[in-house]
Amino acid sequence: MKIIAFPKEQHVGENRTALLPANVKAYTLMGAQVLIESGLGDNIFITDQDYVDAGAKVAESRETLLKQADIILSIHKLPQQELSNCQNNKAILVSFLDPFNGADYVKTLCEHKLTSISMEMIPRISRCQKMDALSSQASLAGYVMVAKGVNALASVLPMMMTPAGTIKPAKVFVIGAGVAGLQAIATAKRLGAAVTAFDTRTVVAEQVQSLGAKFLEIDLGETGQTGQGYAQVLTAEQMKIQQREQAKCIADSDIVITTAQLFGRKPPQLINKDTIKLMKPGSVIVDMAAESGGNVEGSVAGQTVSIHNVKVVGTGNWSNEVAKDASQMYGNNLFNLISECWDKEQAEFNLDLTDEILQNAVITYQGDVVNDVIKQHLNKETA
Ligand code: NAI
Repeated sequence: MKIIAFPKEQHVGENRTALLPANVKAYTLMGAQVLIESGLGDNIFITDQDYVDAGAKVAESRETLLKQADIILSIHKLPQQELSNCQNNKAILVSFLDPFNGADYVKTLCEHKLTSISMEMIPRISRCQKMDALSSQASLAGYVMVAKGVNALASVLPMMMTPAGTIKPAKVFVIGAGVAGLQAIATAKRLGAAVTAFDTRTVVAEQVQSLGAKFLEIDLGETGQTGQGYAQVLTAEQMKIQQREQAKCIADSDIVITTAQLFGRKPPQLINKDTIKLMKPGSVIVDMAAESGGNVEGSVAGQTVSIHNVKVVGTGNWSNEVAKDASQMYGNNLFNLISECWDKEQAEFNLDLTDEILQNAVITYQGDVVNDVIKQHLNKETA
């Protein structure tokens, strides 16, 4: 019987888990044995016994878990020094791998002949929506960023007409209206804010408006999007126009939420300190990208800093703030991926590299980098 194992997350401050008891039952029904590391669900109040009651076994130690596992599922990649404990030439590792930024890690995966599957590289096709962990976590991030913004602001969001006076609705500006941005818009609207949004992909204007927000029109010329729906990189001239044209809206806003990303690249810097200076004292900026370089000049990962009397929130790992729901969504994303590729007759993972999902998401296999996008990226880095 194939062993699907879930090690406890090692990332500092991580509360999420890749498995809920409901998933154990589903894996067991596929004919797999679920093995967990003790304490896997502690941070969201799921006990070892809850997992055992659902049909899982608790490993004697983390080391035995890694040694016995045929498939290892987690949120973050395993620490590099632990890769030698996994079954060489056999184990399949599935997690967020950050494959564009981990050349050395990928090399170690190859050295140990481990098969690795990157959750970031799951293709954006209809068949994969149920396993799209970037989207599930980004959607929660959008909600959390509004909560963080509200918490840092000394005002309320909705208009309030009271005998003690009328309070105007707060103005929220969301830059980047992808998965996280749209959820941030919807959440801020629900709380009663007047919301404006901008994205370089003009196709989203209609989605923004359908949520009751205004779309800020900026003429950047040709922008477009990739086949998978991601934004294209702007030219330096386009960046300048964007920064100039959005400055007034930023200055006018109580909360600015930045969610702009460029797949496989550093996020673009959208707001510099001169623009922050235009904002009212006490206003708030929430920078979704603080951990990966920042959309905002001066934002600090994991902290809230004050720049020209504006609070700049750089919490990072946003979905971890709602770890219970994030675990449920991520756990289901993983299960949907495994079950989609499961050979029911053999009761094992069918590593068919001609399948579109695995063609896109498998990074290393039998000692080689087999993913074309990552192969090209690594070649460029070493050239
Ligand atoms: P993302 O996380 O890569 O980027 C976030 C947003 O930032 C995007 O909307 C992007 O256009 C925007 N952005 C980039 N540079 C910017 C700039 N300079 N200024 C303002 N905004 C900027 O993308 P995300 O949110 O993961 O997905 C983007 C789109 O992909 C979605 O809106 C959706 O249409 C599509 N999608 C399709 C899926 C499918 O299965 N077919 C699944 C998920 C998303």
